[in-house]
Amino acid sequence: MACPKLFLSCLLLELMFFFLVPEVAQGHSLKVGFYGKACPNAEAIVKEVIGQILSVAPSLSGPLLRLHFHDCFVRGCEGSVLLDSPTYQSEKYAFRKHGLRGYQEIDRVKTALEKACPGIVSCADILALVARDVVVATGGLFYDVETGRRDGYVSISEEARRDLIPPTANITTLKADFAKRGLSAKDLVILSGGHTIGNSHCSPFSNRLYNFTGKGDADPTLDSNYIARLKLSCKPNDQTTLVEMDPGSARTFDIKYFDLILKRRGLFTSDAALLDDNQTKAYLDFQIKTGGSTFFKDFGVSMVKMGRIGVLPKMAGEVRKVCTKVN
Ligand code: HEM
Ligand SMILES: *[C@@H]1O[C@H](CO)[C@@H](O)[C@H](O)[C@H]1NC(C)=O
Ligand SMILES: *[C@@H]1O[C@H](CO)[C@@H](O)[C@H](O)[C@H]1NC(C)=O
Ligand SMILES: *[C@@H]1O[C@H](CO)[C@@H](O)[C@H](O)[C@H]1NC(C)=O
Repeated sequence: MACPKLFLSCLLLELMFFFLVPEVAQGHSLKVGFYGKACPNAEAIVKEVIGQILSVAPSLSGPLLRLHFHDCFVRGCEGSVLLDSPTYQSEKYAFRKHGLRGYQEIDRVKTALEKACPGIVSCADILALVARDVVVATGGLFYDVETGRRDGYVSISEEARRDLIPPTANITTLKADFAKRGLSAKDLVILSGGHTIGNSHCSPFSNRLYNFTGKGDADPTLDSNYIARLKLSCKPNDQTTLVEMDPGSARTFDIKYFDLILKRRGLFTSDAALLDDNQTKAYLDFQIKTGGSTFFKDFGVSMVKMGRIGVLPKMAGEVRKVCTKVN
């Protein structure tokens, strides 16, 4: 949709992007404290605004963390998830039924940053910083975020539909999909731990309750007591109800979601699938046994890796003035 005014320059950018991906995927253009000189208070401002938002609306922690993931997995971490489209053709319109939230809150952060240092902090970086601050605000561990991302010009809903892994994916698909982006099986299990906070609509898992193989059956790998409980909230074809993915601690960043997966109560097929691989399963076992002895730290490491996916080279892209529009 929002290809810049000049189609040719867009094409050139795409070409540059194509050839530079292997290098930029390593995060060479990123560094911790990128705004140290140009906007020394950038990270403090993000933290403050997010703190205000979550103190009033704690249920936004899930949506705000998820935005960075959706940004990075489609076109790389370059803010494409934030672009709006008058004809509803940008990424944010890809899954309207269980859509993303938090856009206005990102705008609020951006407004505060533009006031302090106009035109300096990219929207892609805002998403990375916000994700970290959400993790900390919900009880996770602080980690340094690399910054210096540039914002892209293009956002296409078809790409989001194509590139975002469905919740019905099996472990083979999940591992392959992560590997394609330079992320390991270990990153997969750790980042899936992001489901320790937030809510889901019924539709991503409703097949597991009502029609798993097309015969009106339930998923035999999902705990039957849990199925009964989920059915109370989620009626067939329910498009509106939200359930906590980590019931009872859905606003706390902890290891309880891993515990649920081991008890065959992982909500999505993609979560349950972490039991089907020795490496991911071993990681779950170890974290539960040791009370998350490495998970909290590992999460930051994997988030930093995720934050390097498809970052635009230094001279490409722009720093948007408004996150929903190209300049
Ligand atoms: C491994 C592949 C993944 C799949 C298949 C997946 C799928 C989903 C689905 C289907 C939902 C529910 C959406 C809804 O119905 O409203 C969801 C929510 C969420 N996901 Fe994931 N996800 C994945 C990875 C991640 C990663 C890597 C993160 C972040 C590190 C993440 C963070 C979240 C959060 C925080 C929510 C809750 C959003 C809210 O409260 O509105 N997910 N995910
Ligand atoms: C996993 O899913 C993919 C894509 O749907 C499918 O082609 C493959 O056969 C599945 N693998 C296993 C082991 O079930
Ligand atoms: C279950 O799935 C099958 C095959 O996709 C479909 O024909 C059937 O109508 C579904 N049943 C219900 C109750 O949704
Ligand atoms: C995974 O573990 C199971 C049981 O411990 C073992 O039988 C299997 O060979 C292992 N698979 C791989 C790929 O290591």
